[in-house]
Amino acid sequence: MSGDLLRDGLLGPRSESIAKFTSSIKDDTYLAKGVIDINKAHIVMLANKRILSKSEGAALLEALNKVDLTNMDPKLEDIHMNLEQKVVQIIGEEVGGRMHTGKSRNDQVATAIRICLRNFVIDLMSSLIKLRETILNRCEECLYTVMPGYTHLQRAQPVTLAHQLMAHYDSQERNWARLKDAYKRLNLSPMGAAALATTSFDIDRYEVSDLLGFDGIVENSIDAVSSRDFAAEILFVLAQTMADLSSVSEELVIWATSEFNIVKLPDQYVSTSSIMPQKKNPVTAELIRAKTGSVYGSLIAFLTILKALPLSYNIDLQEATQHLWLSCEATLSSIVVMEGLLKEVKFDSEKLLSEAKEDLSTATDLADTLVRDFGLPFRVAYRIVRTVVKELATSDWDARKVSVLISNETDGKILLTPERISAILDPISSVKNKKVVGGPSPTEVGKSLKKRRKGLEKDTNWLERRTRDLGEASSRLEAACINIKLPTRRS
Ligand code: ARG
Repeated sequence: MSGDLLRDGLLGPRSESIAKFTSSIKDDTYLAKGVIDINKAHIVMLANKRILSKSEGAALLEALNKVDLTNMDPKLEDIHMNLEQKVVQIIGEEVGGRMHTGKSRNDQVATAIRICLRNFVIDLMSSLIKLRETILNRCEECLYTVMPGYTHLQRAQPVTLAHQLMAHYDSQERNWARLKDAYKRLNLSPMGAAALATTSFDIDRYEVSDLLGFDGIVENSIDAVSSRDFAAEILFVLAQTMADLSSVSEELVIWATSEFNIVKLPDQYVSTSSIMPQKKNPVTAELIRAKTGSVYGSLIAFLTILKALPLSYNIDLQEATQHLWLSCEATLSSIVVMEGLLKEVKFDSEKLLSEAKEDLSTATDLADTLVRDFGLPFRVAYRIVRTVVKELATSDWDARKVSVLISNETDGKILLTPERISAILDPISSVKNKKVVGGPSPTEVGKSLKKRRKGLEKDTNWLERRTRDLGEASSRLEAACINIKLPTRRS
């Protein structure tokens, strides 16, 4: 039996450093389960099509169950060659050497990547479901918690905490929907494309696809082995998910500073300093922010490696794959950590309300009243209020002064009592009055919350269905393997 399935007799042995340079072993561990299942499904199909005898199929399946992929030899380039070598070692080349009939590493690796990525996508979607649920639970608690809304990180207008958190919910709901959409293009089987041109054996691509839980095949065999756009689009979704998580992270980091001091991060999620015993550093939120950079890097690396590749398979594709796993791991762990953070973070609602009263952030409400009650054009009202703001010495409203200033600015035509002014400028009534759909009023946010809960339930059901489909496919594969191994009945 040969020592190296690929090189013996043609190329001779390879130096360790070049073997290491060429090998994909270190990333291939992600593919292990998929590669074994692919081989099983392929063998079942070959046996059913009588390209292999049932007993050959049974022996190969038996060997696959015994294979241990924990120690792989980089000199054999990748997991695919290691697996075949190990099977040959277990049952000999006469039967083991038949496993690669009608397939290639090219269709096999493309399929294994789709299987591994599919599992990651399911896990990502399930962790996003939990995150979404946690955000909605927090929203429910704080429908009436008034806080400053910001633009340019300057206090702008009062909103509620529920309104703000729901904005984060909505972006993660869209990321979830993007993954769901991408799943259609991901969950297709390249198997049977072989190296690029299919095979002269009468194989059944659909049977393999079905046994592996795919919804169909990537039809064109050249496309099947060369395309990685199914992964690029998922990488983009990961990058976008991280962008959205990094936005929450940044807010938590800022809000936890002594200057803002409106949230208290749970101890579990902060670290301290080795020299300054008083420090509480928001390291988990900072790391989510940082990992966003790593995921962006992977997206760009992936796309750049794909650029200008001639069809069909080129080993450049091997170099691209690692970026998928790095990004999946980083995004998955970030979602889980953020879910925990948001579940436990404590908001200081009194402080939030008192901050919402600062910096004249209900100035627009005053201008709106001048328009609504006195028929002024908005630009005129805006100018009057701007003058009032300019004249006030502090960043707080003094209702009596405001009343006088407005009267002066309008030659006594507009008289508003200090009580009325206080009511207009109150951030709580400001928020209540924003009853436009999608606005911060508790009734509106309450309605949005109900809608989102329904959507979340629907999405949860979809995910459960998909997970069940994959579980059923895996049982189908097991059953098909057992069927090949059963002795043939003679009539
Ligand atoms: N290790 C390779 C990869 O990850 C598998 C396919 C290799 N094919 C080849 N013709 N060299 O892409």
